[in-house]
Amino acid sequence: MSRPAAGPSVPPAAVLCGLAGWVPSRVVTNEHLARRLDTDDTWIRTRTGIHTRHVIDAGQATSDLAVEAGRRALASAGTDAVDAVVVATTTPDHPCPATAPGVAARLGLAGAAAFDIGAVCTGFVYGLASAAGLIAAEVARRVLLIGADTYSTIVDPLDRANAIIFGDGAGAVVLRAGHPDEPGAVGHFDLGSDGAHADLITVAAGGSRQRSQQGEPTREERHFAMRGREVYRHAVTRMTESARTTLSRAGWKIDDVDHFVPHQANLRILHSVADDLGLPRERCVTQVESVGNTGAASIPLALADLTVRGAVRPGDRLLLTAFGGGLTWGSCLLTWPSLPVTPQERTTP
Ligand code: COA
Repeated sequence: MSRPAAGPSVPPAAVLCGLAGWVPSRVVTNEHLARRLDTDDTWIRTRTGIHTRHVIDAGQATSDLAVEAGRRALASAGTDAVDAVVVATTTPDHPCPATAPGVAARLGLAGAAAFDIGAVCTGFVYGLASAAGLIAAEVARRVLLIGADTYSTIVDPLDRANAIIFGDGAGAVVLRAGHPDEPGAVGHFDLGSDGAHADLITVAAGGSRQRSQQGEPTREERHFAMRGREVYRHAVTRMTESARTTLSRAGWKIDDVDHFVPHQANLRILHSVADDLGLPRERCVTQVESVGNTGAASIPLALADLTVRGAVRPGDRLLLTAFGGGLTWGSCLLTWPSLPVTPQERTTP
């Protein structure tokens, strides 16, 4: 008997099977900031929507948050083994080595492939695409992806324009090999960049450009710098375009989206994007009010918060969209799977 001809095989898809968030316990309110900066609660709330943010203590680092979120995501997935650990961050523990191998070792995952992704606030969406690629290429069956950032370590505490915006945190997901049609499968994607505007969001010192020069960097060069107004305009345009591109790739209409989960940059940016997309604001997920902009952690933290609040149900359709320095942007679609919700998934200690 002859065997049937082999048809084109469908590569495995990355399917969400674990999720958790973690923020440090120290809360910094707008009133705290107004004690040391020339600002006030009304200005911060009106311009950004932010009330509070969480900040690490002296001696803590990005990997400490990544380990906490990673441990909880593994527990949520009911597994203690993965083939790859990916950490998206702009605030690695050190310029060298990458943060991911140390995180993997502390989670008992030594031996797994481990690397960092640098795409600033778009890092988590780039990370999802990278994890999906590892799984589709059958390099990995299971991937732990963590978005973790401690902007408090790079923002000048005396810079009132930036100190009000950012907070520290980590969010993590576990992705397993599965079928593209099952709930939790990530994709379609849109990813993009525009390095011509790299100067809008920078930390000038600490890399080869500065280290190959004579002399010590200035205080300004050592800290995070952002041209806020221009970034605002690019963020709205790019996030809106990326969301539209991704929806059209999948044949979805905006009305098909139950939850739009944007990178939590600033409440006004999120509402502008939702309005431009024609999406009712109540379907735009926001957490920036309580945690600020947590960089690569913001989307998984917002997803974890959504599950803990019981605000997302299996079968709901989600659009994730991010924007960040680089400039970089990206979007991803997924249909929500059935995930166990345990107290361990709480985003705050
Ligand atoms: N409190 C009070 N006043 C402040 C202030 C603060 N914390 N920060 C800035 N100001 C002042 C400025 O000095 C300026 O004063 P001037 O008019 O006397 O020069 C005035 O407020 C307006 O500054 P501007 O930077 O033009 O304000 P803005 O309306 O653009 O708001 C941001 C500033 C940073 C809140 C806003 O540009 C923004 O949200 N940008 C996007 C940031 C972001 O989300 N980045 C992440 C992308 S991943």
